[in-house]
Amino acid sequence: MLTRTRWPYPRILAHRGGGALAPENTLVALRVGATLGFAGAEIDARLAGCGTPVLLHDATVDRTTDESGLVRDLAAEDLRQLDAGVWFGNEYAGERVPTLEAASALARNQGQWLNVEIKAEAPDEEEAGAVIAREIARQWRGTSPSPLLSSFSTLALAGARAAAPEIPRGLLLEDLPSDWLDLARSLGCSSVHCRQDTIDGHVVQAAHAAGFGILAYTVNETARALALFELGVDAIVTDELREIRADFLTLYSVGKP
Ligand code: G3P
Ligand code: MG
Repeated sequence: MLTRTRWPYPRILAHRGGGALAPENTLVALRVGATLGFAGAEIDARLAGCGTPVLLHDATVDRTTDESGLVRDLAAEDLRQLDAGVWFGNEYAGERVPTLEAASALARNQGQWLNVEIKAEAPDEEEAGAVIAREIARQWRGTSPSPLLSSFSTLALAGARAAAPEIPRGLLLEDLPSDWLDLARSLGCSSVHCRQDTIDGHVVQAAHAAGFGILAYTVNETARALALFELGVDAIVTDELREIRADFLTLYSVGKP
């Protein structure tokens, strides 16, 4: 049997936990993804002011909670007081900003694999990478495959590599600079995570020829998802959990190894 050594992970990931169906980066989002059969999810993790990793996409809590302010000014205990669900819908009122620890425990419990994107800003990028990598190594000890860390921040990836080199890393790319493969190589990454509209057949071939897995984000159209899998992309991240279903590859007979 063929095994996917380049991408030994689920191939369709629920973006921010539950895609567009639940408040992003919450435990209820991870539950929604798992209930719909998604074996893997992408989540965003960053450091609270006290240094505890929590699930939040932005540097402020303004967009995804009922309060405002910089995450780095709030300890995890302060964040626990905030409502991270009501902005999305009244039925989610009372949902909390989870710690990475709680998210890992839930994901493990429901048999879900994680791509943990490290969010960080200067001057804490290396520190964030190191703390989150160490936490993931501890929280997922003994599980295989381990979560995959990723980041747009090369400093965060360097910090992660120094702290827990055994946890695999992926380089997130907004555009494709001329040295994208060298950059990924220099950070000891095993995958490149590219904005979906920067990917064509040459990009997939170049990534694979250099030994990297390639993930496309964020793919919300069925036709584009099909095209990307036809090009040989290893995985996609999507918000559209009802359109691009967990059984998408079988349903459309695409994405053969
Ligand atoms: O990890 C892929 C994707 O989540 C990157 O963009 O802004 O949604 O975190 P963003
Ligand atoms: Mg993300």
